[in-house]
Amino acid sequence: MSELNLILMGPPGAGKGTQAERLVDDFDLPYYATGDILRAAIAEGTELGKEAQPIVEAGDLVPDELMIGVIMERFDTPEAEDGFILDGFPRTVGQAEALDEALDRRGRSLTAALLIDAPAEEVIRRLSGRRICVKNGHVYHVENDPPKTEGVCDQDGSRLIQRDDDKPETIKRRLSVYREQTEPLIDWYDQRGALRRFDGSRPPDEVHSHIRATLATLALEAEL
Ligand code: AP5
Repeated sequence: MSELNLILMGPPGAGKGTQAERLVDDFDLPYYATGDILRAAIAEGTELGKEAQPIVEAGDLVPDELMIGVIMERFDTPEAEDGFILDGFPRTVGQAEALDEALDRRGRSLTAALLIDAPAEEVIRRLSGRRICVKNGHVYHVENDPPKTEGVCDQDGSRLIQRDDDKPETIKRRLSVYREQTEPLIDWYDQRGALRRFDGSRPPDEVHSHIRATLATLALEAEL
């Protein structure tokens, strides 16, 4: 395969970011996570951040045209020539159509849509215990994956915080938004033969091994 163009899909808390960190290490690809991009814009107080803040904090979706613009400006950079990992985009049919068109126009195609799924009670437990570092967004869990020193990131020493949208009522809203607006994309990518499913309730290393094995098979098929 000449390029590796991947999207990570799945409900909030299924482990998209956790797997993305591993895949970035494996394949040295640029990683575009729309949630991270929005949180950085909110922290910096940019125009995008000001518009997105109340929407993100309520657990709703930022308008398509804003998100499509954010991703498209990253597509046309030399770093994304050999592939990319998208996490949290597309999240609506409108975003998926825009991505398809953008890839088509550039004579490129999606390698796979990696769906990491997990039951609602598990993702609620994970999100309630999640902590992220203020500097680079490294992810921990207070029970499953605690840092060596409480409240401090193992990797960069920065402070660990709870995301504003990881409060119980916002988690509920995010899950219902996912079901209404993002789940239809599962069929969308399945019909295009791009969907690959993974059981996100398995331990992170196991999920990672399954994704690696699937990508290796896709690479072999592409050579035939
Ligand atoms: P975003 O940041 O994308 O949030 P999300 O999709 O809700 O996903 P999360 O980051 O919460 O979960 P994750 O699946 O990455 O799980 P993680 O690996 O961290 O978006 C936030 C908001 O931005 C949206 O609500 C929306 O408002 C806006 N937005 C973003 N993109 C947009 C778009 N395209 N259009 C419009 N609006 C947009 O893991 C979670 C926890 O579980 C961690 O503590 C981790 O340690 C633990 N864990 C992970 N894997 C496992 C495992 N296998 N076993 C046990 N524990 C695990």
